[in-house]
Amino acid sequence: MNTRSPWIKCYPRHANGLYLHQATYASERFPEPQLPAVLQALQMQTQSWTPGGNCHNNHSMDEKPRAPRNRTLTLNKEEYATLAERLLRLNTPTTPAEIVGRTICQDLFEALPHLPSRFIDLLIVDPPYNINKSFNGSAFKSRPAEHYAEWVDSWLNPLCRVLKPTASIYICCDWRCSAAVQQVGERYFTVQNRITWEREKGRGALQNWKNCSEDIWFFTASREYTFNVDAVKLKRRVIAPYTAEDGTPKDWNETNRGGFRLTHPSNLWTDISVPFWSMPENTDHPTQKPEKFVAKLILASSNPGDMILDPFLGSGTTSVVAKKLGRSYVGIEVDEMYCCLAEKRLGRADHDDSVQGYQDGVFWERNSLADQHRSAMRRLTQSAQHQRLFEVD
Ligand SMILES: C[S@@+](CC[C@H](N)C(=O)[O-])C[C@H]1O[C@@H](n2cnc3c(N)ncnc32)[C@H](O)[C@@H]1O
Repeated sequence: MNTRSPWIKCYPRHANGLYLHQATYASERFPEPQLPAVLQALQMQTQSWTPGGNCHNNHSMDEKPRAPRNRTLTLNKEEYATLAERLLRLNTPTTPAEIVGRTICQDLFEALPHLPSRFIDLLIVDPPYNINKSFNGSAFKSRPAEHYAEWVDSWLNPLCRVLKPTASIYICCDWRCSAAVQQVGERYFTVQNRITWEREKGRGALQNWKNCSEDIWFFTASREYTFNVDAVKLKRRVIAPYTAEDGTPKDWNETNRGGFRLTHPSNLWTDISVPFWSMPENTDHPTQKPEKFVAKLILASSNPGDMILDPFLGSGTTSVVAKKLGRSYVGIEVDEMYCCLAEKRLGRADHDDSVQGYQDGVFWERNSLADQHRSAMRRLTQSAQHQRLFEVD
């Protein structure tokens, strides 16, 4: 099959519109069994489209050679210089309007005193874990557990001032620092529960069990908080298709691809992969979180327009997903290169608001890409039929 037909190319158009246009065309040209692969190729190419018209971004600051199918987002020198001009550095008190939608490139301990009070609805924190790790040359050093807890307290305490009384707080960690995060978090907040994410990728171990999970502690500033359970349901294939006495499906839906059920989200997340080189959201940041992961936190614990803060922004995942989902956001990151990557991703979100693994208002289980495309096609066909109904000759 040739998925590189001439019509699969990058046009200077709105990326979503481009995908819809070409997907409709593809559905008419390709036989059923080939369609999911064609649509996947289309979506990947559409997502890599940039206003400058480059389909591929294999330039990097260090010109690292990359495989042709590697979609890792990088920066060339000109982009870096332009994007760096958008970054903020705070040295006087600010209002929410002055910092909304911005990336603050600064040590968070310098920036925090200048942030407004009580303006944040959702705080997402993904700090360096208690391991030796280099972030673009700046090393975070592993330390005794009690010293790590003191360090967590040193930023969590001042962050309390910026939170609204109804705010939710998520703090990411691994098994080594989970106890410190729980202990410090409970000093200031009500603990709601802890999510465990099966991260899949992990270094093999000979002396103990390979670690492939992370924890995310969920706290709230008070007992009054947002939790939109319907916004984070998981779409799963039905294994036990129970039916009512009249033969109709019980709590699941029959589709031409089989039975599916929308299940309540649990605190064990097994449906999210770490970003990897063939995904358009991937960057060279060493600990980048997946967009699907952050989308769950944002959809569950905020409403459109709410203000979200990430004080360890890294490559910008929280701001990018907040933008895609219609929330307000501000991020702080000390490293300028990561800030520029965040800005580049934010620019792309103007043209592409898709979040891989989240479609039609539901999260899909792993390995369901074909079903997701099928669902997108159904929506497209319905929308095209709907449009035709209102067309005037
Ligand atoms: C675990 S990473 C966050 C990754 C991010 N969630 C993403 O998806 O890309 C932690 C980030 O905190 C940044 N950082 C470390 N110390 C900082 C500080 N004092 N102020 C601001 N940022 C800091 C590091 O440069 C790193 O990018």
